Amino acid sequence: MNIQIFENEKQVHEACAILFAAQLIENPESVLGFATGSTPVGAYDELARMHDEGIISFFHASSFNLDEYVGLEQDHEQSYHRFMMKNLFDHVDMPEENIHVPYGAALDPEVEVLLYENAIAEAGGIDLQLLGIGVNGHIGFNEPSSSFSAETHVVDLTPSTIEANARFFDSADEVPRQALTMGIGTIMNALKIVLVATGENKAQAIREMIDGPINPACPASILQLHDNVTVLLDLAAASLLQ
Ligand code: F6R
Repeated sequence: MNIQIFENEKQVHEACAILFAAQLIENPESVLGFATGSTPVGAYDELARMHDEGIISFFHASSFNLDEYVGLEQDHEQSYHRFMMKNLFDHVDMPEENIHVPYGAALDPEVEVLLYENAIAEAGGIDLQLLGIGVNGHIGFNEPSSSFSAETHVVDLTPSTIEANARFFDSADEVPRQALTMGIGTIMNALKIVLVATGENKAQAIREMIDGPINPACPASILQLHDNVTVLLDLAAASLLQ
């Protein structure tokens, strides 16, 4: 793993955006993997700025998001589809048909996950995947004890993730109990991975991911086996590293 530690979170966001911009410049037809959550928002702002300034274009690129809540329509205020439109896609020139987020309101989620995995394969696989990390070490919605080889699938969210995500809803009761997520196998198939983490509350998960054994108790620890992972941390998230 290539681990880069920055003084503050702004630098983490900028470094992340630079890696995605470089990918687009190197290959304008890149297949990009995106994540939601608070951590990538600053990087998306930077990418929108670079797009505004004419430095990068997403016109020939396509994207696949990691996950979506089961039961939420694309335009639901808390859907990850809406999050991505608001934070990135409304501000850049990626054609709508190239944007993929699992469809949370699919009549049959079990069919949706198969279609999603096939669509990734048909696009030729993901060139560069962005990941955040949960306080329990999850990546995507792959919670502790998830299979390391799973493809896109339906998951039950753990109480810790429901609680962590309740901040976006009026109450924890409103957080959906299931999600569609790329599996760890899908994520590990990406050619390159960038994981971003900031803040003290991620320090323990980052320590387990990097210094701990490869263990389903920390799903992100499997990234030790991927041969092209860049981890971008601020000082707080890196504070427990040995
Ligand atoms: C979101 C996702 C999640 C988040 C993780 C961290 O698409 O895949 O694994 O990356 O929960 O979220 P934040 O950045 O809000 O701390």
